[in-house]
Amino acid sequence: MTGPVTVAVDDDGVATVTIDRPDRLNALSSATLEALLDVLDEAEAADARVLVLTGAGEDAFAAGADIEEMAEFSTPEAHAYASLGHDVTRAIETFPAPVVAAINGYALGGGLELALACDLRVASERAVLGQTETDLGIIPGWGGTQRLPRLVGDETARRLVYFGERVDAQDAHEFGLVGEVVAHDELDGHVADLASDLAARPRVALAAAKEAITQSHETDLGAGLDFERRTWASLFGTHDQREGMRAFLEERDPSFE
Ligand code: COA
Repeated sequence: MTGPVTVAVDDDGVATVTIDRPDRLNALSSATLEALLDVLDEAEAADARVLVLTGAGEDAFAAGADIEEMAEFSTPEAHAYASLGHDVTRAIETFPAPVVAAINGYALGGGLELALACDLRVASERAVLGQTETDLGIIPGWGGTQRLPRLVGDETARRLVYFGERVDAQDAHEFGLVGEVVAHDELDGHVADLASDLAARPRVALAAAKEAITQSHETDLGAGLDFERRTWASLFGTHDQREGMRAFLEERDPSFE
């Protein structure tokens, strides 16, 4: 597949997207972000049931935005780069299937922001995570100031951002930044099992659940509850709703679409 990002879709419908610039610790240049957008479109067109996002090599998920590229940016150039990062994180967040970040090493700055936009985060015990932008005299610009406090709480987010702190996987797990930590050499297998379990589940219901839970971060409670009610009702009459409930009543395993 295209340049700095590769994608492979298996028979279960699991699309594995790999940021592939290991010599730059998978730093997210504009070209890499554009390639990610293309690959997300491609995975959606291929009806991927689950997407796994990871980094090539042994060292990094992604060590952030490309510092070499952005060092001399003007404000308009920085604005365009931020918009591109926002497009990618939003495309992950609205991808119509679960997205799992397999954090195999450094997830710093924009790399962590990509992971924050994913549904689930599984980290290798070697992972190092941080919202480190203040070390460079800037702030997180691809959603970190918004998604990080929603995930770990306001005080922890402020500490991470203000101090540019780099934390190990275990600490990240303790304050809820990652859902699971596994041995480094078990990460790929563990994430593959998780992804194939998700891929076997009812696709339309998972997409609806994802959208409804995302709404909980974006609207007030009343609007969120309205969204949930409409989405819940819209699932009635789908193949998987009929099949799931009939299978229960007939005391057999369901066969989802
Ligand atoms: N942008 C551009 N290039 C980067 C990069 C980034 N965010 N992160 C790493 N690289 C490059 C390095 O410049 C180096 O290139 P070189 O081989 O041409 O010198 C290469 O990737 C390997 O990185 P290096 O720093 O030599 O590896 P290390 O193991 O000593 O350190 C890190 C790893 C992650 C601690 C260190 O690279 C780092 O701090 N990176 C920047 C992280 C950051 O601030 N990210 C937020 C950006 S908003």
